[in-house]
Amino acid sequence: MVVCVCNAIREREVRDAARRGAISPAKAYRSLGCKPQCGQCIPFALQIIKAEHALAC
Ligand code: FES
Repeated sequence: MVVCVCNAIREREVRDAARRGAISPAKAYRSLGCKPQCGQCIPFALQIIKAEHALAC
């Protein structure tokens, strides 16, 4: 599933970035060579990152 339409970032990529240590959507996107643009995806991306970190605990 595509999380960020502006950057064509998929859910799997956000999860992988979270596992590599990204604690925010901006940091996750930066690790993928992008940055937030319209910002509409931020709440969903944050939810994915939080869920991934919760699984890691
Ligand atoms: S959908 Fe992610 S910045 Fe626009």
